[in-house]
Amino acid sequence: MAMRALATASAFALACGLGAGVVSSAAPAWVWDLPAGVRAPNVPSDAPMSPEVVDLGRHLFYDTRMSANGTQSCATCHQQSRAFTDGRPQGIGSTGQVHARNAMSLVNVAYAETLTWAHPTLTTLEAQALVPMYGTAPVELGLTAGDDRWLDRLTGDATYARLVPAAFPDAPRLTSSHVTRALAAFERSIVSMRSPYDRYHFERDETAISDAAKRGEMLFHSRPLSCFTCHGGVHFSDAMGAAPPMGTARPSRLPSFHNTGLYNLPGAVSYPARDTGVHALTGRAADVGRFKAPSLRNIAVTAPYMHDGSIATLDGVIDHYSAGGRSIAAGPDRGVGHDNPNKDDGVRGFQLTPGQRADLKAFLESLTDTALLHDPRFADPWPAR
Ligand code: HEC
Ligand code: HEC
Repeated sequence: MAMRALATASAFALACGLGAGVVSSAAPAWVWDLPAGVRAPNVPSDAPMSPEVVDLGRHLFYDTRMSANGTQSCATCHQQSRAFTDGRPQGIGSTGQVHARNAMSLVNVAYAETLTWAHPTLTTLEAQALVPMYGTAPVELGLTAGDDRWLDRLTGDATYARLVPAAFPDAPRLTSSHVTRALAAFERSIVSMRSPYDRYHFERDETAISDAAKRGEMLFHSRPLSCFTCHGGVHFSDAMGAAPPMGTARPSRLPSFHNTGLYNLPGAVSYPARDTGVHALTGRAADVGRFKAPSLRNIAVTAPYMHDGSIATLDGVIDHYSAGGRSIAAGPDRGVGHDNPNKDDGVRGFQLTPGQRADLKAFLESLTDTALLHDPRFADPWPAR
């Protein structure tokens, strides 16, 4: 069935290892299980994938000792059964602090050009992991930079005594940079495109999805819905997978962020002050309300939706787009999103019959990769505690 694309093993590392007389085995080529024609994600040349590093990362991802008070791990907010989201409108950190944003799916995150909802320059998973680990606004895992007691706790554990030297043979002791490298490698390994839509699209299995889903696919990929303009390509996101292979020049275009008219407050800044999107980093008026268009893979299992979890259902999301931007009638956020001055041209509004709405939903539901949700490679490796 699926063709297997091979990532190149680090021949350079092997050559150096031998040259220096160090006993070093080359990392075996990592096997990505991808449909034919889909290229493998970019992997930083200084962080080659290996089964040992990924295994260490998986243990860390699911380890509550990764939080200062022992209550949370990455997996608290990124649960496999929900395509690595948490079912809440907004994340809640280990000390109870509410995050301004909705936890994002980590499926195929190796292809993401930028990370998180609205951060044009956060581009590596290694750097992103530091945010939940050490972040203070809000506190997520609540670790303190410079206080390595949590690393000592891990180093004393028998499982890590086995996993760490296997992953990093040259490391005298586990450091936080090993932790972020291993977490990033595990996250990169969560690559999966095995939904019914993939069987239909890549393997030409006409029976894999319903006629309704096929009609929905047409709606999605045509005007006036125009969903594809921001959620196009195999990842259903214009912020994923367009970067060229490692070693070639980066594209000159900036990653895409869009204002979809979710809010329209009166005054200079049309989005609620609690989260103004890219504007919060750049201060530029043109960036108000601009967020990353996330992948729509597994969207049926990742409710609630949008950067702040403010839409509960897929029907609600379709209402938002068909109105050409959401209207909020009362309360502090009231306003007509349709009239947001920064709104992207792609969000203009349209009308759907009940049948067309059902078709669009059937298409979105055909993007659920059930194999991924139960894949033992991505599951909690620790015995029940
Ligand atoms: C308290 C809940 C919580 C915890 C714990 C947490 N995350 Fe997240 N994660 C979030 C939220 C919320 C976002 C969106 C953040 C933003 O946009 O600023 C996010 C976003 C991400 C993203 C960006 C995905 C994308 O498509 O851009 C990655 C990667 C990620 N988290 C990895 C991790 C890792 C690794 C850990 C553990 C070290 C972790 N998270 C712990 C809630 C959490
Ligand atoms: C102009 C670009 C653009 C167009 C066109 C567009 N989207 Fe989006 N989409 C986005 C952005 C940006 C977000 C996140 C916005 C936010 O949270 O404020 C988003 C979010 C979503 C979400 C929620 C994702 C999540 O993980 O919470 C869904 C579902 C969605 N879009 C479906 C659609 C559908 C269906 C269409 C066509 C009717 C469509 N989009 C058209 C840019 C777009």
